[in-house]
Amino acid sequence: MESPFKPEILKGKVALLTGGASGIGFEISTQFGKHGASIAIMGRRKSVVDSAVSSLQSLGIPAVGFPGDVRNQADAKRVVESTVAHYGKLDILVNAAAGNFLVSPEDLSPNGFRTVVDIDAVGTFTMCHEAVNYLKKGGPGRSSDESGGMILNISATLHYTAAWYQIHVNAAKAAVDAITRNLALEWGTDYDIRVNGIAPGPIGDTPGMRKLGPDEIETNREYMPLFKLGEKWDIAIAALYLASSAGKYVNGMTLIVDGGLWLSRPRHMPKDEVKRLSRIVEKKARAAPVGVPSSKL
Ligand code: COA
Repeated sequence: MESPFKPEILKGKVALLTGGASGIGFEISTQFGKHGASIAIMGRRKSVVDSAVSSLQSLGIPAVGFPGDVRNQADAKRVVESTVAHYGKLDILVNAAAGNFLVSPEDLSPNGFRTVVDIDAVGTFTMCHEAVNYLKKGGPGRSSDESGGMILNISATLHYTAAWYQIHVNAAKAAVDAITRNLALEWGTDYDIRVNGIAPGPIGDTPGMRKLGPDEIETNREYMPLFKLGEKWDIAIAALYLASSAGKYVNGMTLIVDGGLWLSRPRHMPKDEVKRLSRIVEKKARAAPVGVPSSKL
């Protein structure tokens, strides 16, 4: 799909993306690159990182890849430093690396719980921690009149209430949202760094969707307000808005991009019934003297 934004909105920016070689992360890498950014990708699997970098380069996008695991602080430090060594600066950090699988709480080992919290929450914090020195206003590679950089954390909506078989992920994403808000407050104030998030709904053709809504399980789309899955493009374009100057006053916000799914409830009464009953109930209520239940009339 064609972008609604001008192609140079991220011109001169350097973006580092964890999990930037596949799924939503790769689409953000691609859209950022198409809009002028130079891209660094961090991922665990070298072959996947290499092929993502080749794809970006074939589009004329400056791209480099660094294998690494966000759970390993030494990897995080090395990848941030390698990005700055390669491009001379860092403007945008996108934390898109995540882990997920469906499991009941009683079947989930504490190590399984810890593994996902380590990737999503601790990994996000570790990357931010290693990148802050380069993102802050006046940091290495930043000109004196340049504002601070930006952090974007990919989150979710399932933890707003509760979700079946997702206790580990929901605990992790709740922590990610807390990290987003806290860093927005503290680093926004001290270092002029904006920190925001995106909470995607179900997005087609992603590793997350393949895990949460596998082909083997028939999922009911009737409950979705817009009756459809989102596209990776929807998330990448939202990321572009937040990363570009269009989002310069947005800080500490996790933007929900899910077609309104997080609001959905089963319809408890057919619409025709509401039309029919609503007037009857109203009439009864008016006829009833105050304090006398209509059943007693
Ligand atoms: N059900 C229950 N427990 C599971 C599980 C499943 N489907 N998959 C993994 N675990 C448990 C393991 O049993 C292990 O716990 P244990 O030591 O007590 O047995 C723990 O989780 C770690 O598993 P391991 O396979 O060693 O971790 P890993 O580091 O190789 O992989 C995962 C991490 C499990 C999160 C893996 O799914 C992954 O790499 N995911 C990245 C991609 C992804 O999920 N993308 C979607 C993002 S929305």
